[in-house]
Amino acid sequence: MINRKEKEVQTVLEVVIAEPDPPEEADEEDNYKEYKMGEDKNFQRADIGLIGLAVMGENLALNIEKNGFCVAVYNRTTQKVDNFLQSRGINKNFIGTKTVEELCSVLAKPRKLIIMVKAGNPIDQFIDQVLPCLDEGDILIDGGNSHYLDTIRRTKYVNEKGILFVGTGISGGEEGALNGPSIMPGGNEDAWSVVKPVLQSIAAKVDGDVPCCEWVGNDGAGHYVKMVHNGIEYSDMQLICEAYQLLKSGLNLSPGEIHEIFKSWNSGPLNSYLIEITSEILDHTDEKTGEATIDLILDVAGQKGTGKWTGISGLELGVPIPQIVQAVFTRCLSALKSERVYASAVLSGSNQKISDQSDKFINKLHNALYASKICSYAQGFQLLKFAAEEFDWDLNYGDIALLWRGGCIIRAGFLKNIKEAFDSKSDLTNLLLDPYFAKIMIDTQDDLRYIAKQAIDCGIPLPSMTSALNYYDAYRCARLPANLLQAQRDYFGAHTYERIDKERGEFFHTNWTGQGGETASSSYNV
Ligand code: 6PG
Repeated sequence: MINRKEKEVQTVLEVVIAEPDPPEEADEEDNYKEYKMGEDKNFQRADIGLIGLAVMGENLALNIEKNGFCVAVYNRTTQKVDNFLQSRGINKNFIGTKTVEELCSVLAKPRKLIIMVKAGNPIDQFIDQVLPCLDEGDILIDGGNSHYLDTIRRTKYVNEKGILFVGTGISGGEEGALNGPSIMPGGNEDAWSVVKPVLQSIAAKVDGDVPCCEWVGNDGAGHYVKMVHNGIEYSDMQLICEAYQLLKSGLNLSPGEIHEIFKSWNSGPLNSYLIEITSEILDHTDEKTGEATIDLILDVAGQKGTGKWTGISGLELGVPIPQIVQAVFTRCLSALKSERVYASAVLSGSNQKISDQSDKFINKLHNALYASKICSYAQGFQLLKFAAEEFDWDLNYGDIALLWRGGCIIRAGFLKNIKEAFDSKSDLTNLLLDPYFAKIMIDTQDDLRYIAKQAIDCGIPLPSMTSALNYYDAYRCARLPANLLQAQRDYFGAHTYERIDKERGEFFHTNWTGQGGETASSSYNV
């Protein structure tokens, strides 16, 4: 393994202010420590290092420091380090460093180093830069939104060099990073006992002192769970947007009136961070124009890719997650702004108006939103189940629901019930089959149908709620028309089919036209 002790001694001396010269025999690590601790009470090795002082990195560093740890910070543009230490980091327990070597030299061993840089190549570059400065057993923690396959690859790569890797999802945006995010760590479990005290202390807490940070699983498991969190986040946001559009275009309510509705919904079963911020957004007035800010924002949604990754994973694993995929595509459709504006003048729709303008409609909309949200979480958790099988991760779904109860973007009251559902039946195949959620679905499905019908009649798009309803109806359908689909495949391509009067796994081919041969194609499934 890399032995950098002499260099380390030298570099520390450059960064620690007013260091006396080391004693002559200070070339051995142990001597060096002794000298530091014995002769210079001011010297302190940092508990943890952090690379990347962008918004998330800076806030995370402040959060770690305020929880009693000494944090060494580094940023590629070193001016940022100075700026940070002179502003938000002033008079706090930070050690600023100007090179990756310096950073590694001031860290207590085993070194713990959080990388908070842009996902993708920059992470690989930093890993390669930092590896020569590390010793066996040191721990690299990637806290960005990395793709889980990259995390699997990186875990293997750094392990070959004797370094432990933790790929952790961190959710909660700027505010969460500073005051308590949800943390989803995965990677080398040997690293968990070492990083646990830091990560759990900075995480959001629920029920008083339960941290929203628990070990998730091997290699890419933490980043996979964070990715699914984001897929659900896309879906949650889309559902709220659909409710907003029905209230705005269907009932012609003002932002102020819709604000009141979301505010009241937030004190019921829909209680969640996203409902809460939606209510606040709708109450915001633009300083310049005096208009509701929401009405001034262009209707073109951006996306950084994690929703798309979730959709791709669903397709790869063959798991139906239509609401998440729909949410991604609806963002894509919103981006076709000029085409939509043109089409709005060319393509006609419906002249119907929502027939029921009373509070009853609003109550039904509430239930439709709740039912759709449950379907969306059911899809997300089912995706996790298939992924656990595929990647050999021992996921604990109750714990995952706990991680999402606080700090993260999808935090919501009903995650407590999801936790209870998986805690009482860890092999639950689908959340819709849990008695608590099954009852809610049975009780609210009529309202979801009603809302879907109203929106369809009035020509108001409702992609995610209708997708939820279709998912619900298809999932509870004992006999789907896939028999016909199989017959079609067999007709044109001899792809074969299974029969209801034979054992599963036996495949048959019919010579449908009397002209085709008896040769069947293979019956593999992707
Ligand atoms: C979080 C968020 C965050 C996400 C951004 C941007 O959990 O804190 O999920 O990680 O990356 O919200 O996402 P989009 O740009 O794709 O909407």
